[in-house]
Amino acid sequence: MASKIPEVSSLVCEAQLAFKATYGGNADTAVSAPGRVNIIGEHTDYNDGFVFPMALPLVTVIIGRKTQSGLCRIQTLSEFADKPLQVAFKTPSSSAPLTRGAPNWANYIKGVVANFPGDVSGFDAVVTSSVPLGGGLSSSASLEVATYTFLESITGTKATSLREKALACQKAEHEFANMPCGIMDQFISTMGKRGNALLIDCRSLESTLVPLTDPSIAFVITNSNVRHTLSGTEYPTRRRQCQEAATVMGKKCLRDATLQDLEKHRSSLSEEVYKRAQHAISEIQRTEEAVSVLRNSDYTLFGKMMTESHNSLKDDYEVSCSELDELVAGALEVPGVFGSRMTGGGFGGCTVTLVKQECVDSLISHTLEKYSGKPTFYVCLPSEGTQQLAI
Ligand code: GLA
Repeated sequence: MASKIPEVSSLVCEAQLAFKATYGGNADTAVSAPGRVNIIGEHTDYNDGFVFPMALPLVTVIIGRKTQSGLCRIQTLSEFADKPLQVAFKTPSSSAPLTRGAPNWANYIKGVVANFPGDVSGFDAVVTSSVPLGGGLSSSASLEVATYTFLESITGTKATSLREKALACQKAEHEFANMPCGIMDQFISTMGKRGNALLIDCRSLESTLVPLTDPSIAFVITNSNVRHTLSGTEYPTRRRQCQEAATVMGKKCLRDATLQDLEKHRSSLSEEVYKRAQHAISEIQRTEEAVSVLRNSDYTLFGKMMTESHNSLKDDYEVSCSELDELVAGALEVPGVFGSRMTGGGFGGCTVTLVKQECVDSLISHTLEKYSGKPTFYVCLPSEGTQQLAI
C-alpha cells in the first residue's frame, strides 16, 4: 500500500496544539512549502542545464506569530531532527550576524532569516513536515522556502520576484548548511503549480509548465529508506569535476559543451572527470528531448529515457547505490512500467517510476516482495508551490 499523505489541515492543527502548549495563545499565521520529485534531469542544475521536477503534496508547514522580542523562537515537531527540538536566537544585526551551529535543522531557518530582505523583529513558530527527512525529496528546500513565505507573511515585506525568493533560499543552504546545491529544489518549491511539472532552464531561470494530468499514468515514488553518508561529501566533488571538464574544454559550463567537444578533449581529462562530464552533457540533452516526448504522450519512449538517465547516474556519475539499483531493476520487471530512475542527489533516498495507473498495485507488491530493505511508497499528483494558509 502507498503511504497515506497527511492533509495540510491536520499538520496545521497538530502545530497549533504544540504552539499553544509551548508559547501560550494561538498562532495567527500559517504557511506551507512542498518537497519535490525530480522526474528527469539529475545533477544538471549546477551545470546550467535543464531539470524537470514537480512539487509534491508532501509539505513543510510553519505556523507562528510575529513578536517584538528581538528573538526567533522555533520548535520542530519532526521526530528525526537533531536535538534540541526548540531553539531561540537573536534577530540578526550588522554587528551581530547569524552564524551556523547546532542543532542542524535550525540552520536552514537561520540561513533564510539572514538572507531575508525585510526587518524581522522576532517571532514564535512551530515547524512540522510530511516530507521525509533525508529522503531525497527536498525536505531542506521545503523548510527554507516555508521560512521565507512565513517571514513575508509576518513582516509584510515580499520578495521582488519568485526567482529572488528561490535564490535567497539557495544562498541560505550554501551558507548555513554548507551544501553547494543548484537551484532546482528551491525553485520548484517556490513555483510549483498543481497539475503540472516544471521544465526549468537553470541558465536563464526561465521555466515552462508541462501539464501532467493524464489519469491513465502515475508517478510512483519509492523510498529506499537508506541514506549513505557519502551524499554530503561527494556532491561538491561532482560539482568541481564538472567545472574542471568545462574549463578544459574552454567552456563556461557543461551546458555549453557537446559530446563531440568532450571526445575532442578526452586525452586531457582523467577517466573519472570524462565520465562525469559524459553524464552531465548527455543528461542535459536527454531532459530537453524527454519533455517534448512527454508532451506527445509517448510514455514508452519517455520511460526509456528515464531508465537511461538512471544508468548514466549509476555508471558514469556514480551517485547511485545498490539499494536504488535494486529498486529500479525490480520496477522494470513489472508489466505496465515505462521507466524508473533514482531521483535527487543520490546515495540513497528515492526512485521515481512511471507506470500505467492500473499497474500501480502490482508495482508496489512486486517491490515489497523483491526489495531486500523496507520501502515506502508515495503516489503523488503534481501539487502547488509554497502558499499562505488559512488559520
Ligand atoms: C540535490 C540538489 C539539487 C540538485 C540535485 C541533483 O537535490 O539540492 O540542486 O543538484 O541534488 O539533481
